[in-house]
Amino acid sequence: MEPEDIGDELAEVLIGESQLRDRVRQLAAAIDADYDEPPLFVVVLKGAVMFLADLARDVPQSVEMDFMAVSSYGYGTQSSGVVRILKDLDLDIRGRHVLLVEDIIDSGLTLSWLLRNLSARGPASLEVCALLRKRDALQVDVDIRYVGFDIPNAFVVGYGLDHAEKYRNLRCIATLAPERLT
Ligand code: IMP
Repeated sequence: MEPEDIGDELAEVLIGESQLRDRVRQLAAAIDADYDEPPLFVVVLKGAVMFLADLARDVPQSVEMDFMAVSSYGYGTQSSGVVRILKDLDLDIRGRHVLLVEDIIDSGLTLSWLLRNLSARGPASLEVCALLRKRDALQVDVDIRYVGFDIPNAFVVGYGLDHAEKYRNLRCIATLAPERLT
């Protein structure tokens, strides 16, 4: 889906398709350079799926991946940091080099919960690759090794990110028109 297809529902395109493409390639190259063998990509459904699909295909070696689904309790568009696992990993990550692939870090509360949960399973290493980070929104100190883009503190959709399950298949990252955010 292109922004023109839903023009009046969006406020502004923040990151276009080719900018996303270029940055994801750079992240894959950085990951490939940093590890002898690619780490296990642990992916949080559903927002990170488009990012994962491009990132993994840009790594020039075979990448193993596993999926988790969590729900974060909160009001409307705010997360609370109280997380419930809806689907756990299939693989045992003990002794593995793990890269947590995330769509967006907002308050950081979901991520910090996930990092505590995953590190308790004894991985050899645990790093984070997030496509987007809202720097001004961070409420906890989390170490993110790879960040695609720092963005303003606004609600964004597209490239996997949704609002009430819509807009995930938008090719770019955009802010929603304010009347859509209710
Ligand atoms: P946090 O716990 O506040 O960092 O929120 C993280 C999760 O909230 C992300 O993984 C997304 O699922 C969701 N989220 C946060 N900000 C946005 C946004 O701007 N658009 C869509 N989803 C978001």
